[in-house]
Parts: sequence; structure tokens; C-alpha cells
Amino acid sequence: MTQTNTVLIVSDRPQLAALLARAVENVVACRCIEPGASLPAALPAVAVVDVSRNATLARAWVARLHASRIATLQLTNQAAAIGRTVSATRTLRADAPRTVVLATLFNLIDSRRTGERPVPGEPSVPSAATAARAESLARVADAMVTRVFEAAGAGRALTPAETDAGTEVILEAVSECGIRTWLEAIERHDQQLYQHSLSVAGYAAAFGTGLGLPRADRMRLARAALLHDLGKARIPLEILNKPGRLTPAEMAVMQTHPAIGADLLRDQEGFDAQTLQVVRHHHEMLDGSGYPDGLAGAAIPDLVRLVTICDIHSALTERRPYRDPLPHREAHALMLDMVPRLDADLLRAFERLVLQAIPDAAVA
Ligand SMILES: [Fe+2]
Ligand SMILES: [Fe+2]
Repeated sequence: MTQTNTVLIVSDRPQLAALLARAVENVVACRCIEPGASLPAALPAVAVVDVSRNATLARAWVARLHASRIATLQLTNQAAAIGRTVSATRTLRADAPRTVVLATLFNLIDSRRTGERPVPGEPSVPSAATAARAESLARVADAMVTRVFEAAGAGRALTPAETDAGTEVILEAVSECGIRTWLEAIERHDQQLYQHSLSVAGYAAAFGTGLGLPRADRMRLARAALLHDLGKARIPLEILNKPGRLTPAEMAVMQTHPAIGADLLRDQEGFDAQTLQVVRHHHEMLDGSGYPDGLAGAAIPDLVRLVTICDIHSALTERRPYRDPLPHREAHALMLDMVPRLDADLLRAFERLVLQAIPDAAVA
């Protein structure tokens, strides 16, 4: 039997299997089967075993895949027991967040790459109509972001309805026109903070789509990304826009922006706890070296990790008065060097699901 560059999902949770398959199909062909079916003749390169209701059947699937040398990710409630019998299988809890499941799965796919190039959003030159559409949506989103940040700076009330409207526009633009065209559309913005917020939200929208997140989760992710630096609306302009590196004292002021932003949103009505978490913690690092609270490891929620990756990548590839933007590949290599401060699995998923649609020349 031959091994093909496909993913097989064996699952007794059809809904979860379908959501995983939708995200995987951005990268390679994927097939879902029920646990009672048999192993296809064309063997997959990678398999997921998600059979929590029948431990015997789950064990049989893991053994069968192991015998055929198929890299396997098992979702299980009995990780310890099964992990002992088949050590090559990666295991995650059955209730692990879907972003973690997908990031682990994409890692396995990477490790079994058969030389075939993945095909998510092959970079292609956008048509004039697509570019014009992205530019008109960028103007709308820009006006909304400007209003929200100016209100935050002036101490006026903010409403979730207003930020949601801006987030909707960004989701629509990125899904209609692609992340590459979105970045090009916002590149000319003269307000660096607003451009950065639109850019991070765009990356988050593309990441969420690539991960196959449902619309409500994509909204939450993109909204949090859009607002992550809201606290900078209260940082003195001479520090915020300083055309050079900050002194340690200025840096200390700048580093108050996550707490300021979270406090500002907490004082408003209707902003959810996850958005507040992203705003407060987007500069935390997995090894505890970040700020403001020095959170480490599992204390940093998934949503925060996703936005942190979008934020750093965006910052490195933006122009600053004192340095040129880094090409995307170099920025990504630099971020891989930051592991274990950043989440390695999510970084690889970001590369595969978002960056492959952006040729360096187009936006660097
Ligand atoms: Fe920030
Ligand atoms: Fe930022």
C-alpha cells in the first residue's frame, strides 16, 4: 500500500472532525471516517485518532496506524495508558483547544512532508478590482479605528458595537481579498499605530480562517487583535512617535500600555474577559520574561498567544523611522529563534496558514 500526502481523521465526533478537516484542507487533502470503517488502501501520511467513546477501538486504531508507520495524533481522555503502548503517537487531551490540536497536527504534517508543496493561498498578483475593494474597506476600517483610538485617548466612552463594526470590515476584507492585498491596502497609512492595529487584526483574521475557527471565534480573535494596543492612545506622543530608540525611562512608560488598555476597556460596558486578557497580556512570554505580569506557560491563554505572534510579526515587518521593515521570511526566522518564549507549534501553523500567501517582495 502506498502512502499519500493526505490526512486521515478517524473520529466519533463528526462535528469536530468536519471543523478540523476544513482547516487541514487549506494545506493538504483530508478525509474523515468513522471508527468502524477500515483503513483506506491509499495510506495517509498523518492521521488523527479521536475515538474517546471506545478505548479498545481507539487502541486498535493507534496500533494499526503505528504498524503502517503513519504519524498519528491521538485525542484521548486516557493519554497516559495509551501513550505507554505506542510511544510514537502524539497525544492531546480530547478537550484540548482546537487551535492547539491544529497547531500540533500541522507540525506533524510538516515533519512528514513528502516534498509536495502545500497550496494554501498560493501568492498571486491581486486584480485591480480586488485591490480597489480592499482599499475601500481599508478606508472604512481606518475611519473606525481612528474614532475608537481617539475616543480612548480623550477619555470618551467606547462601545463594543463600534469596535465590532470595524472588526467585521476587516474580516470581510481579508476573506474577500486575502491578507496580502489587505496589507498592501493599509501600507500607506500615515498613522503608524492605526496601521499596526489594522495589520495585526488582518493577520489574526487570516490566522483564524486558516485554523478553521468558527465565525464567532474569528470575530473574538480579530477584535482583540484590533484593540491590543489601545493603551497606546494614552502614551505621550513624544514617546509614541519618537523617531529613534527609546531610553530605558521612556521604555518603562511605553510598557504601561497593556495595563492602561485593559483598564480602559474594563471601565466600559460590554467588552468580554478574553478581549481584556489579550489587551493586558499580549507582551507576556511563555518563559515568564514578558510584561506586565510575568505570566508563563499555561497561564497564557491560547487567544493571547495567537495575537502575540500576529503582533510581533507585524511589528517586525513594519517600517520604523529608525529601521527598514524586515522581509517576512527573516521576521519569521527571528521569531523561531525566540522559541521557547513563543509557542513553536503556533508559529509553524502561522507560517503555513498565513505567510505562504505573502511573497516578501509584495509588502517588504
Ligand atoms: Fe503592544
Ligand atoms: Fe502591538
